[in-house]
Amino acid sequence: MVSIEAWFMDDSDEEQRMPHKRNPNEPVSLEELEKLGVFYWKLDADIYETDPVLEKIRKDRGYSYSDIITIHKDTLPNYEDKLKMFFEVHLHLDDEIRYILDGRAYFDVRDREDRWIRISMSKGDLITLPAGIYHRFTLTETNYTKAMRLFVGEPVWKAYNRPADEFEIRQKYIEGLSGGIE
Ligand SMILES: [Fe+2]
Repeated sequence: MVSIEAWFMDDSDEEQRMPHKRNPNEPVSLEELEKLGVFYWKLDADIYETDPVLEKIRKDRGYSYSDIITIHKDTLPNYEDKLKMFFEVHLHLDDEIRYILDGRAYFDVRDREDRWIRISMSKGDLITLPAGIYHRFTLTETNYTKAMRLFVGEPVWKAYNRPADEFEIRQKYIEGLSGGIE
C-alpha cells in the first residue's frame, strides 16, 4: 500500500519551512489527493538512472523531458528570490511533475474548498500536480532538495500567479473536480 504524508495546514504565519500541521493533526489521504488530480509514486531514488519502474512511468505518460535541479543556497543562482517565487500561489498550463532524488520539500495545493493541503516529499517520492491547480513549493527546515523535473515534450516553466481564474485550463480543472477526476 503506497502512502503519502499530507495534512491540512494551520493558519499561522510562522516560517514557511515549518510543517504547519494543525493541532491535532488533520491528515489527508492519497485518495483525497487523487480526487484533486494529484498522483503519486514511491520509487527507489538510488537507481533513478536505470530504474525500469521510472522508465515505464515516463513511457506510459509521455514524460520525454527531464532535468535535475538542486535547490540549495550554494547551487541555485538567486536562491532567495527563487524560493520566494516558488512560494507564490500559482498555476501552470501543464502538469507539474517532480521526483525527489534527495533531501526534502513541501508542495502545497488548494483543495476544492480552497484549503491548503501540505504534501511532504522526500527521497523517492514522485508527484504530479494537474494543470490548473493552485499550488506552491517550499523547502523544509533542512534547506535542501534535489529533484528531477519531468515534462511532456519541450518544458514550459511559466507560472501564472493567482488570480489566474480566467485561464481555460483553470476552468477545465474546476469542471473536472465537480465531475470527479478519476
Ligand atoms: Fe508550480
